[in-house]
Amino acid sequence: MNKKVLIISGSPRKGGNSDTLCDHFAAGAAQSGNQVEKIWLGDKQLHFCTGCYSCRNGHCPHNDDAVTIGEKILRADVTVLATPVYFYTMCAQLKTLIDRSVMYYPEIKNNHFYFIMTMADTVTENFTGTIEALKGFAACCENSTVDGMICVPGVYEKGEIDATSFPERAFEMGSGIK
Ligand SMILES: Cc1cc2nc3c(=O)[nH]c(=O)nc-3n(C[C@H](O)[C@H](O)[C@H](O)COP(=O)(O)O)c2cc1C
Repeated sequence: MNKKVLIISGSPRKGGNSDTLCDHFAAGAAQSGNQVEKIWLGDKQLHFCTGCYSCRNGHCPHNDDAVTIGEKILRADVTVLATPVYFYTMCAQLKTLIDRSVMYYPEIKNNHFYFIMTMADTVTENFTGTIEALKGFAACCENSTVDGMICVPGVYEKGEIDATSFPERAFEMGSGIK
């Protein structure tokens, strides 16, 4: 069945390592006949959650792109969250978006999550903080699962991902969505 696949690329570095993997994942998912949309957070307006809990009364004081992206997550069957590792966790752009989901995350149901992450470090255990943080978000979403992850160590400069086999793996993972 044709699925709605939403890819959220968190890195501020457009065309960087994790963003490139998003493009390959998107190409694979599109080839399998899915409806694919990729969002790059770098050109979105995202304000921090202030913890005011106005959203409990159905109103967030910020009227920005976090609201429209949230609507897309609610409609998605598959959500890909991509980030570079920044100080052992996800980048601020993705974290800001996730924090803003406090206004709608209880409505996220039956979502299939995939994670993409890259880091300079070659010690794979150092993905743990990022993986656990993203898994924590997925665990807050009813009946949702983490179906795949691509974690690439040892890539620092933009373009280094192209010398690895991971773009191909991202394409395959995307094309596996049916
Ligand atoms: C602010 C900042 C923090 C970073 N922190 C880490 C880190 O904790 N561990 C690591 O291995 N690499 C770290 N890096 C390197 C990036 O994770 C690495 O270059 C990654 O491939 C960037 O992905 P991108 O091209 O998708 O932005 C950091 C880079 C920046 C700019």
